[in-house]
Amino acid sequence: MKFDLLTLFPGMFSGPFSESMIKNAVEKGLVEISLHNIRDFAFDKHRVTDDYPYGGGAGMVMKVEPLTACLESVKAARPSSKVILTTPGGRPLSQSLVEELAAEDGLIIICGRYEGVDDRVRELYVDLEISIGDFVLTGGEPAAVVLVDAVSRFIPGVLGSSESAQDDSFGNGLLEYPQYTRPPEFRGLTVPPVLLSGNHLEIKRWRRRQSLRRTFFARPELLETEALTEEEKQFIRTLRNGGGIQD
Ligand code: ADE
Repeated sequence: MKFDLLTLFPGMFSGPFSESMIKNAVEKGLVEISLHNIRDFAFDKHRVTDDYPYGGGAGMVMKVEPLTACLESVKAARPSSKVILTTPGGRPLSQSLVEELAAEDGLIIICGRYEGVDDRVRELYVDLEISIGDFVLTGGEPAAVVLVDAVSRFIPGVLGSSESAQDDSFGNGLLEYPQYTRPPEFRGLTVPPVLLSGNHLEIKRWRRRQSLRRTFFARPELLETEALTEEEKQFIRTLRNGGGIQD
């Protein structure tokens, strides 16, 4: 997977991409991340990349010429990549959208800045606008980091062989069950005995119930689209009535 990030602040990415799994993925050649400084494509004397908005109002708008020049140079090298603009007004990022994006050849991500981007860039080139949540960041760079990270997890070989992006919270439509490792007791808190029982069927059942319980309390709307067995529906009813905490 090839990621091309168009930004005014390439330095913002040096930390996130030089540690842990993304670093390993880059070193193994599974993902390629190229940073493109939009300012390098501002050809006026002062290399201006933003200007006052027509019609007035607060803040600055990213200018169309440097951004399109940068985009055109990147697109020429990557004609099949999808162009994404990070913006709070975009489609909400979800695990299913992440999985869709992981099937692309490459992603060109424009990190929006200031009060916005001249809308003609969007009209001319943007395939998809993406928001990482209903809040406003100072710029699209952190959103681009989130996108690269989440999409990379679906690239074969990025996660360890025993891990799967499909098994995670949201991967199966529910939140994850609680996990524990040694020691079996810490400050009086013990690991649920079923996990030490070696009974894999019981462990599976317990985990499924814990997932349902966590989802019920933290993200009940996710249960609406989940296929549940009769027994699981009964369990949810028990939770609704204030029971099921020990299950
Ligand atoms: N830029 C500013 N806020 C953002 C958000 N919530 N998602 C994506 N890009 C953004």
